[in-house]
Amino acid sequence: SCSCKIGPSILNGDLSCLGDECKRMMDAGADYLHLDVMDGHFVPNITFGATMVKWLRKKQPGVFFDLHMMVSEPEKWVDEMADAGANQYTFHLEATENPRDLIKQIRNRGMKVGIGIKPGTPVEKVLPYVSDVDMVLIMTVEPGFGGQKFMADMMPKVKHLRRNHPGLDIEVDGGVGLSTIATAAEAGANMIVSGSAVVKSPDPKSVITQLREITEK
Ligand code: DX5
Ligand code: ZN
Repeated sequence: SCSCKIGPSILNGDLSCLGDECKRMMDAGADYLHLDVMDGHFVPNITFGATMVKWLRKKQPGVFFDLHMMVSEPEKWVDEMADAGANQYTFHLEATENPRDLIKQIRNRGMKVGIGIKPGTPVEKVLPYVSDVDMVLIMTVEPGFGGQKFMADMMPKVKHLRRNHPGLDIEVDGGVGLSTIATAAEAGANMIVSGSAVVKSPDPKSVITQLREITEK
């Protein structure tokens, strides 16, 4: 059992009406919004940047924005994203040479710090930074696209982190839906990103409610 938070990823929603999609997710009972920023370089896809975040912030003044920065130079966008109203800045460990400076840079701008690792990156690589961040993101698909299959073999990473850091926020992202959320929650994840499972459903409220119920069992 966990007090999990559910954060829809709107990547697979209708990006031409992103504001409406965010509202639809919040009306459906989402706890926060997971915003996937891609630069076409760190990942083979492009989504949106700080201007979009700024306009979404105007429409959703009180919602926690968790920015998943799938970009090659995460140092570059800290100021823009802070100005745009981001609450948490999650960068990829693989994308920076100097995680410590980046963590400080993010904190100095008043945002929470998340650090993410791709499926091929061992959890050991992130351990030196865990006590300095608010959240660790364990990717359960290769970053770049929604709608991929959940990699259950990433759960040992989540378990390892949870055993050693009871109070840490641990997020899983990729392929999480009604049939996989139990595995993630049991491993110790407490921030659950769910994209297609929620956004593509005609009844997102029922999906979010069911997701939450499964984690409460
Ligand atoms: C993948 C993104 C995820 C993704 C989740 O690169 O970081 O946030 O959109 O979508 P689903 O739940 O469909 O895998
Ligand atoms: Zn993501």
